[in-house]
Amino acid sequence: MATNITWHPNLSYDERKTLRKQEGCTVWFTGLSASGKSTIACALEQLLLQKGVSAYRLDGDNIRFGLNKDLGFSEKDRNENIRRISEVSKLFADSCTISLTSFISPYRADRDKARELHKESGLRFIEVFVDVPLDVAEKRDPKGLYKKAREGVIKEFTGISAPYEAPESPELHLRTDKNTVEECATVIYEYLVRENLIN
Ligand code: PPS
Repeated sequence: MATNITWHPNLSYDERKTLRKQEGCTVWFTGLSASGKSTIACALEQLLLQKGVSAYRLDGDNIRFGLNKDLGFSEKDRNENIRRISEVSKLFADSCTISLTSFISPYRADRDKARELHKESGLRFIEVFVDVPLDVAEKRDPKGLYKKAREGVIKEFTGISAPYEAPESPELHLRTDKNTVEECATVIYEYLVRENLIN
């Protein structure tokens, strides 16, 4: 950490919330590649925006084109990927936006740190486990990545040659082999209403 730096006080979250008339939080999607994280996050973002709620999606593939283009898929790089996203998502939540993060985020410890970071700032963190059996994700294989992973062309592929640690007590547990994208997005939307995060 740099020295000779000073924290500049901001508007408080509560002051911002009153002025913006909206809560912020992070909805943290986690799950295997091809589980449906990004698709559900897109549907939810659209639903929220249509209702006039400020929402923004941070997506694994997309963020790796810019902010995290220096990172690969080793355990260390995934830790750093999730650390940076946790910080960015916290800023969006603090700005009274519903931040939707769709990253595999395979390590429980990284997700727990993200939760802790939000908690320290009094911000809500909603972990959404986008669950699908590996064989179903592998059959979907929309980008042909599972095939390449099985052939050994892609190393350290989640679920095949790298671990995925499923959440133990997520706020929401979705099964995308049993429910449609719209049903899953609605479950999250209704949760946000119940928790008074949106009207
Ligand atoms: S992580 O584990 O959270 O750091 O990964 P993330 O930033 O979400 O990036 C996952 C997307 O990268 C593509 N991809 C891989 N995924 C897993 N393992 C390996 N080795 C890998 N190489 C490339 C893949 O398109 C992932 O996107 P999704 O949407 O999850 O399929």
